[in-house]
Amino acid sequence: MIFETIAGSAHEQVVFCQNKDAGLKAIIAVHNSVLGPALGGLRMWAYKNEQEALNDVLRLSRGMTYKAAVAGLNLGGGKAVIIGDPSKDKSEALFRAFGRFVNSLNGRYITAEDVGIDVNDMEYVLKETEYVTGVHQVHGGSGDPSPFTAYGTLQGLMASLNFKFGNEDVGNYSYAVQGVGHVGMEFVRLLREQGAKVWVTDINKDAVQQAVDEFGAEAVDLDEIYDVPADVYSPCALGGTVNTNTLPRLKCQIICGAANNQLANDEIGDEVEKRGMLYAPDYAVNAGGLMNVSLEIDGYNRERAMRMTRTIYYNLGKIFNIAKRDHIPTYKAADRMAEERINTIGRIRLPHMGSHGPRFLGRMRGN
Ligand SMILES: NC(=O)c1ccc[n+]([C@@H]2O[C@H](COP(=O)([O-])OP(=O)(O)OC[C@H]3O[C@@H](n4cnc5c(N)ncnc54)[C@H](O)[C@@H]3O)[C@@H](O)[C@H]2O)c1
Repeated sequence: MIFETIAGSAHEQVVFCQNKDAGLKAIIAVHNSVLGPALGGLRMWAYKNEQEALNDVLRLSRGMTYKAAVAGLNLGGGKAVIIGDPSKDKSEALFRAFGRFVNSLNGRYITAEDVGIDVNDMEYVLKETEYVTGVHQVHGGSGDPSPFTAYGTLQGLMASLNFKFGNEDVGNYSYAVQGVGHVGMEFVRLLREQGAKVWVTDINKDAVQQAVDEFGAEAVDLDEIYDVPADVYSPCALGGTVNTNTLPRLKCQIICGAANNQLANDEIGDEVEKRGMLYAPDYAVNAGGLMNVSLEIDGYNRERAMRMTRTIYYNLGKIFNIAKRDHIPTYKAADRMAEERINTIGRIRLPHMGSHGPRFLGRMRGN
């Protein structure tokens, strides 16, 4: 059944890694490497069973293909999972054993931090392989990606305002920001810097207080965030918050935030479109973190990271134009843009250009 499953999702390669001494049970999934090496984080999670771990790694690696393709990066999509409880099953041996498997793929897969993994775990992985990003800054790492994700979200917002209202006057509109964590707080700061009206909510009361005291946001209760008369709803906490319960309550004209998987399902995406709201596809908007970490591959530079993050503005513009061209909702247009780029770039790489591969020595042999 595994071959059927991975053929259905078009994965290139799925690697099952085990090391009994280290207690390692991991799966690395390379979904698509047409554009470049498959980069994607390592997640450690106490999965209930192996099937659940496999499903997760297949779903997440496919998502990375689309994210990297839309971001304009020369990267494919991959992901890895370790089956285990991050609060008690971590060890040096575990991560070094994992690192050796990553190394055995010779750069087809590049790993990074994800849920359950921190920068210290990555140091052990780094001892066994160079195909690691998201390491500590002392090793040439890029550090906390959140400011880049927030800045990228602002770029996505400006493209959305431009498409919807014909101007990018961020300060003239109002915003409902759900979640003021690493990304949300910085996003609120950027909005308030331009004088925008901002409502915030968070389960963390201290964070809400900080947004009010430091940045002049207005606090509302957790559930109230869906009812405020904001022009833009900005989910920066959880996925699935645009759903059949919340959508009828939202008064916004734009949905643009950093959270992953904002739409509860595709039908909701269609409904958003029908209501005349503009949805800025989440994985295109929140690509700043991936862009930032990707620069570690050939030497991290903060200026380049900022410059690259600004391209999110153009990527969103392209998505909106594809949606208009093909009369499809924006969430579908993002997928189409990714597929078009993979197909086109894949094809221009097909003809042999003579500079790579073995040299042609046949005619000289007799001399
Ligand atoms: N950090 C990045 O660079 C990055 C990159 C891409 C995507 N994202 C996505 O953006 C979102 C935010 O990431 P982050 O790094 O800021 O995470 P974070 O954990 O720092 O912040 C999330 C915040 O949401 C709050 N929250 C949780 N449940 C809530 C609820 N029901 N209602 C209101 N607030 C709630 C938390 O208390 C927290 O303050 C996540 O969905 C993440 O997957 C982050």
